[in-house]
Amino acid sequence: MELLDVTTTPAWSALLAVERPASLRYLFDADPDRGRRMVVECADLRIDWSKHLVDDDVVAALLAVARAAGVEAHRDAMLRGDRINTTEGRSVLHTALRLPRDATLVVDGVDVVAEVHAVLDSMGAFAERVRADERITDVVNIGIGGSDLGPAMAARALAADAHPRIRTHFVSNVDGADITATLAGLEPAATLFVVSSKTFTTIETLTNARTARAWLTAALGDAAVAEHFVAVSTNAEQVAAFGIDTANMFGFWDWVGGRYSVDSAIGLSLMISIGPDRFRELLDGFHAVDEHFRTAPLEANAPVLLAMLGVWYVDVLGWRSKAVLPYAQELARFPAYLQQLDMESNGKSVRRDGTPVTAGTGPVVWGEPGTNGQHAFYQLLHQGTQVVPVDMIGFAHPHHPHRHHHDLLVANLLAQAEALAFGRANELEPHRHFPGGRPSTMILADRLTPSVLGQLIALYEHIVFVQGVVWGINSFDQWGVELGKELANRITPELTGETAVGGHDSSTTALIEWYRERRLSG
Ligand code: F6P
Repeated sequence: MELLDVTTTPAWSALLAVERPASLRYLFDADPDRGRRMVVECADLRIDWSKHLVDDDVVAALLAVARAAGVEAHRDAMLRGDRINTTEGRSVLHTALRLPRDATLVVDGVDVVAEVHAVLDSMGAFAERVRADERITDVVNIGIGGSDLGPAMAARALAADAHPRIRTHFVSNVDGADITATLAGLEPAATLFVVSSKTFTTIETLTNARTARAWLTAALGDAAVAEHFVAVSTNAEQVAAFGIDTANMFGFWDWVGGRYSVDSAIGLSLMISIGPDRFRELLDGFHAVDEHFRTAPLEANAPVLLAMLGVWYVDVLGWRSKAVLPYAQELARFPAYLQQLDMESNGKSVRRDGTPVTAGTGPVVWGEPGTNGQHAFYQLLHQGTQVVPVDMIGFAHPHHPHRHHHDLLVANLLAQAEALAFGRANELEPHRHFPGGRPSTMILADRLTPSVLGQLIALYEHIVFVQGVVWGINSFDQWGVELGKELANRITPELTGETAVGGHDSSTTALIEWYRERRLSG
């Protein structure tokens, strides 16, 4: 698709020129209905965006920018399978992973929906076998990045649906402390390893998988690998080279980006935990939001509205950090998941054609569950010199029986949004002055079900997509992770003494020598 620089359009100039609302207090006083009017329903999510520093003129200007950037045309191009990941020459079809069985989507002459459901069926059959096999009590997913964060986050989020016998573990870090701690509590004969790697070349994952295999075979012999190891990958050749029979491999496709893959076979460990039926509900939740994104007019399109609010903050108000604050302990890993989704997608400085970006791009994303964060960093959110827009997520019903805890939790959720927005003036005691004017999105749902989790993930996927379109970047590559990997490969043999230290700056050379001396002297 044609690459337009939206910052050269009249819509962008109009956005920069639009009058900025004085305060949230002023906006609410001027429109008593604001708190009900500026709410968008997106599948089962109730999204209150009234506590954002925008009025109708700003929203109109933001939506004009979205239109000028061609958000709708780009969305349609993604959904039909155009090769919008131009630097890697790939389609971007994570939305096809959740199309219903009776849908069809033909890309390059292949019905991808049929392929997706064939894999889902074989995952389902395998998951049921494991769930019925009394000998297996522990499943260890070995992967990193998109091959870890999605299933790890979701398995924790959906712990209420977990199989009572099966414990699910996630090993990602090449730091041996990770796998050592995980294996310490496990029985080889009762453990299934799921090695998850799109490329099957990722050093962290292969190193952990080799260590796990050595641990297993030391106890049960080489023949046990066939029964205790399965792989999830797009790279059958490397899976076979590692020693896993490709009959025990679950595949996916190059059109699924790592950080968009939790709903592909990368979700196998999650599916074993929650079962194929709940996994299907998760996919249906994703699909419901995909349909909303595809069909809702921009004025009522949740991902578009939230994405454009982000553009307002990053590019007009200069607020380049964003916190995600789930008021649900089960979503403890959701901020980390969103860090990869957003920052690996939109942390870019060049546009799709390689020219420099002409606006600020992806914000720094971070967060912790409430109420823990309140006793850590909310001080800065309320009174710091930088404004950090926040997303708050909460539920009407908990999965535990302690309603009193939940009432307190929800009271804190609502109180924090109110305090951030409206503050409290105290001219006499400046230290106790709360300026307010700090925006938040409030995302509520009845309870955290698999479907609602799918809805939440899809919502953020599409927010990231829309922002990438506005900024003219390719949200689906990640070249920025390559250089560090390459240098680490060079430094490893220098640390062990296999190769001489050379070709580095004086700092790096001295650091390598520091480690090497200590390593060699034991
Ligand atoms: O961090 C870079 C990255 O390529 C991510 O995009 C990806 O999710 C992760 O590494 C893991 O890659 P793989 O699934 O190929 O092991």
